[in-house]
Amino acid sequence: MCGIVGIIGKENATDILVQGLEKLEYRGYDSAGIFVTGKNKEDHLVKSLGRIADLQSKISSEVQGTVGIGHTRWATHGKPSERNAHPHTSSNQQFILVHNGVIENFEEIKQEFLQNKQLEGETDTEIVVHLIECFAEAGMATKEAFKKALTVIKGSYAFALIDKNDPDTIYVAKNKSPLLIGLGDTFNVICSDAMAMLAETNHFVEIADGEMVIVKADKIEIEDEKGNLVYRESYEAQLDLSDIEKGTYPYYMLKEIDDQPTVMRRIIQEYTNTVGDAVIDDKIIGKITGSDRIYVVACGTSYNAGWVGKAILEKMTKIPVEVHLSSEFGYNMPLLSEKPFFIFLSQSGETADSRQVLVQTNELGLPSLTLTNVAGSTLSREADYTLLLHAGPEIAVASTKAYTAQIAVLAVLAKAVGDKKGNQSSLEFDIAHELSVIAAVMETIIDEKMVISQLVEDYLSTTRNAFYIGRGVDYYVSMEASLKLKEISYIQAEGFAAGELKHGTIALIEDGTPVFGIITDQKTAAHTRGNLKEVESRGAHNFVIALASLAKETDQLIIPDVHPLLTPLVSIIPTQLIAYFATLQRGYDVDKPRNLAKSVTVE
Ligand code: AGP
Ligand code: GLU
Repeated sequence: MCGIVGIIGKENATDILVQGLEKLEYRGYDSAGIFVTGKNKEDHLVKSLGRIADLQSKISSEVQGTVGIGHTRWATHGKPSERNAHPHTSSNQQFILVHNGVIENFEEIKQEFLQNKQLEGETDTEIVVHLIECFAEAGMATKEAFKKALTVIKGSYAFALIDKNDPDTIYVAKNKSPLLIGLGDTFNVICSDAMAMLAETNHFVEIADGEMVIVKADKIEIEDEKGNLVYRESYEAQLDLSDIEKGTYPYYMLKEIDDQPTVMRRIIQEYTNTVGDAVIDDKIIGKITGSDRIYVVACGTSYNAGWVGKAILEKMTKIPVEVHLSSEFGYNMPLLSEKPFFIFLSQSGETADSRQVLVQTNELGLPSLTLTNVAGSTLSREADYTLLLHAGPEIAVASTKAYTAQIAVLAVLAKAVGDKKGNQSSLEFDIAHELSVIAAVMETIIDEKMVISQLVEDYLSTTRNAFYIGRGVDYYVSMEASLKLKEISYIQAEGFAAGELKHGTIALIEDGTPVFGIITDQKTAAHTRGNLKEVESRGAHNFVIALASLAKETDQLIIPDVHPLLTPLVSIIPTQLIAYFATLQRGYDVDKPRNLAKSVTVE
């Protein structure tokens, strides 16, 4: 959600900021802005509603500098507009600030400190820049004023502040929202995500919550809350610029759908040995084996992956598994078992809803594991253990390869725990072989792209709504399939337990309503077919996705058979392509759907 970039010590600060913001576009935003300046240089503040391209068209050749900050905003307080776009300036124009996050006590700050200040817009951020000015007016140096403001503020933030009177420094601080410092030879950068600055450096330093950092061209100084200097080693980002390029693909989403067979093979490589056994840190296995219940906590697509994970984990480990929405769990915690083990699923590792649960489980001293795609992310750092998804950067807002990677890594984990417990169901499951079959089947489905595109034209070109139905894991896949469809094509879609339709929702079926039935489970196939008949007789336009051994000739898409526990890894693929083509055919931006952000860093 939103992005911050900053640079100090390079002549072409403007270009670096704009290129950095482009790399952060995937996170979702509605407006953008930059501020550039430098010793003996003019100040330039440029802001724009809309895309980075709109901002760029407003940046003239005079906008030059050696220091600057840039921002993409995803509005939380105040509508998306040029006025509310960041950077924000103080009344006397001395301080310039960008912010990611939410200031919870902004009303109180306004009442207590800013009665005499004239505010331009409606953002919570603007309050902060005025607050800093207020403390500076009371005689504090900029650093003290910034630190003082941090003690007053409640909420989540990543800040980058410039004092125009001293353009040799960028002041940085963070709490909950992500921010990194990137190190160069004669310059330094800041960014919400290493991807934004990979063209400049691949050496980064993490900032912990509550710390403040002074960033200069030739050095950085990190201070903890008490003012003690902190020394922290930098790390090398294991990313390559080519990982984050689209290449010949029109959209990241399509590239990421196509990446999935490769990701499956990478997971086999990373997590299994030469004889095909699961290889996972013994400490993780020991903790899970000793637990009496697993709690999976996640949001959105990761939550949907959690349900499939539950089915696999319970089967292999014989440990009960609960799946919870982070945003609910944190404020409505269920009664926990005696020896719970927490698994956080998060592609980005930065989701604020999930993090607030992790903060609580840490306070309770409960063991936790994060499955994430991003090494060094907040949820990874703060959980006891991490398993990486190895999916490669996922840029499209609609998550695809992270979903299948989460399921595959959970399956490996389930196998490792099941084997440790000596469970027969696990011992006879050849995970490396089964995942390699999955990779091959994914490829055959992906090869059917054009067939799927044509079917989508027949089924979804004019509809306002659609349903996905299934039972058991097919229901879990339906939940994810409908989320994918609605978030990018804006077709109102619902994923439903097939048997539950007749208890109410069937009232919504009209002539021509598309109903996608997913059938991969021999136990429930006949029942789901029965439910499809019920909707068909009420006018539904049925589309069946079925496993070959359960398919009928009239089914629209037939998927080769795979291991019964892993069917979601292949049945999800056509639904991702259905969402992709429906969106393309409606003329929407596949990678950047309206109102959404890739990494949701506010609760
Ligand atoms: C996926 O398509 C969504 N855009 C969204 O639901 C996402 O899965 C959710 O915000 C959780 O993100 P995370 O996996 O990075 O925590
Ligand atoms: N809360 C701030 C605003 O609405 C920052 C939002 C963001 O993180 O982009 O302007």
